[in-house]
Amino acid sequence: MNRKYRKTVIAGNWKMNKTPSETKEFMTQLKAIMPKGRWCDVALCVPAVCIPAAVRAMRETRVGIGAENCNPNPSGAYTGEIATNMLTDAGCKYVIIGHSERRAMGETDADVNAKVLAALDAGLIPIMCCGESLEQRQNGVTAEWITMQIKLGLKDVPEDKIRKVIIAYEPIWAIGTGLTATPEQAEEVCEMIRSVVRKLYSSKNARAISILYGGSMNEKNAFELLAQPDIDGGLIGGASLVPEKFVKIIEAANQPTV
Ligand code: 13P
Repeated sequence: MNRKYRKTVIAGNWKMNKTPSETKEFMTQLKAIMPKGRWCDVALCVPAVCIPAAVRAMRETRVGIGAENCNPNPSGAYTGEIATNMLTDAGCKYVIIGHSERRAMGETDADVNAKVLAALDAGLIPIMCCGESLEQRQNGVTAEWITMQIKLGLKDVPEDKIRKVIIAYEPIWAIGTGLTATPEQAEEVCEMIRSVVRKLYSSKNARAISILYGGSMNEKNAFELLAQPDIDGGLIGGASLVPEKFVKIIEAANQPTV
């Protein structure tokens, strides 16, 4: 982290977990133990049907609510899809885009890019995910793969909007497996992502954007991961479903930074 130049962001990704009733219960518990300091931004990205309950519960708090996906089109015949203006109207501040679980369902880099542009237009903060498979890591193409995902995902994002984008590095082999990237492995890729942004935009913009790590981040390993200079927060799956664990990760963001 480097709180001098950029925001630290602790974001939960609930995936397909919790009902609206369970959301209300979770938020009540979270509010009771939420740390008072403001050393990081806190986001919870929840299933679409849980958004109203989450927004209602967290209205007077520092927790911003987000969605887990969006459709890039403004409206129309897209059965089952949700447009960005529906998300903002429902009170969302964030949207996760290009999670590997959605890419596995067929989402392409071009889809990711269209969604990032639509989210920015609507005033949402996109949390754009990238990450390599185990096979890609073993074949030594992690840097090339991530560079491609970043370049294609950020295509046509204007200079004055790049700072609104949050990038999440999530190695696929570390998601939900209990296998966390070591702080050094995660830092190496996050640092590389920042250098790609530097080349595409500028040093100032690269220094200002928040890059998160995701993949089995939990209350035990968060402190060490967040101590890395280019890891500006976490995108947390399993551990964001338990208020006590999520709060411990938020507390880990309260450590001295470089
Ligand atoms: P886990 O924290 O459950 O490994 O999930 C990470 C993730 O995919 C967050 O988007």
